Amino acid sequence: MLTVLGIETSCDETAVAVVGDRYANADRYANADRYANADRTLLSNVVASQIDLHRLYGGVVPELAARQHLEMINPCLDQALAQAGLSWDQIDGIAATTAPGLVGALLVGATVGKTLAMVHGKPFLGIHHLEGHIYATYLSNPEIEPPFLCLLVSGGHTSLIQVRGCGDYQQLGSTRDDAAGEAFDKVARLLGLGYPGGPAIDRIAKTGNPNAFPLPEGRVSLPNNQGYHPYDCSFSGLKTAVLRLVQGFEGEALPVADIAASFQETVARSLTKRAIACALDHDLPLIAIGGGVAANSALRKHLEAAATPQGLAVHFPPLKFCTDNAAMIACAGVEHLRMGHRSPLTLGVQSRLGITEVMSLYG
Ligand code: KG4
Ligand code: ZN
Repeated sequence: MLTVLGIETSCDETAVAVVGDRYANADRYANADRYANADRTLLSNVVASQIDLHRLYGGVVPELAARQHLEMINPCLDQALAQAGLSWDQIDGIAATTAPGLVGALLVGATVGKTLAMVHGKPFLGIHHLEGHIYATYLSNPEIEPPFLCLLVSGGHTSLIQVRGCGDYQQLGSTRDDAAGEAFDKVARLLGLGYPGGPAIDRIAKTGNPNAFPLPEGRVSLPNNQGYHPYDCSFSGLKTAVLRLVQGFEGEALPVADIAASFQETVARSLTKRAIACALDHDLPLIAIGGGVAANSALRKHLEAAATPQGLAVHFPPLKFCTDNAAMIACAGVEHLRMGHRSPLTLGVQSRLGITEVMSLYG
């Protein structure tokens, strides 16, 4: 079995996991095309969440995140190896998220990963965080094969990515301003619902009327009056509209559940419309969702209802693979290792890196 230990510290979860490929030494790939899927066996999956720490400040504090990673990384490493029942000489490669993310946070995982690779004489693989989210799809459903469309909706990212194979992606749409999860977090703060905002809005929206307040969907204009971008979205106007709506209730009791439900409905409709149009226009039979916002009940409902009549399949990985974790990083690492990719130990971390730049991580 080919095994990769993955490390994820790009934001507010310290995570370590081990994923193995049982077929790596067999001739399974000999005659397959270069995109044939590896086996992905999850051997361990450890996540130390920092949510309680950052909740005190209403959002992620980058410096505190980095310090907490430093404290948690060794216990997480020990636990992940113990859970997998493996020793270092049974690990074939070490993968760590090196981009994009909070630089101080990324530095912890990347430095630990490179150091372990050097000390134990293993190949090192820098992993693009968003490619990790894409690999959560394969991890949860080994039958899925590219090409497909990934709708990535997290606190830091909102993108529509055409997945063609390992390291081979095209970004077809994205947000022009706030990420979807960021919009949930900011609106939750406006409504006094605390952090993280997504789960709080989702919960209270269940008791509200999603059609109580019409809110702007936030379309992105094309240059020269050529209409609107079919797949890009924007949430800053929607956020401002919610702010105005809240301000309009000065002194009166705020209909929090109705506002939360109307906001959530608008985001879910906007994302669904774009994802469906994008999949149909590019002949992609499957939409896979990634990122923490994949938990949202309205998004799930709208996507499933819109996809079925169009003959499109929708795949929601289990939530533990949608939110930040190292299993998805190790899973991407297995594939890159199997394909012969290696990162130099001089590889640094990058706060920003487009999904089309994944292969720049390998020398
Ligand atoms: O993927 P993730 O765990 O971390 C990032 O990489 O950002 O996503 C976290 C984001 C937060 O903004 C959180 O509010 C949002 O996902 N989220 C949700 C829900 N659960 C988490 N948003 C909407 N509805 C939910 N049920
Ligand atoms: Zn993420």
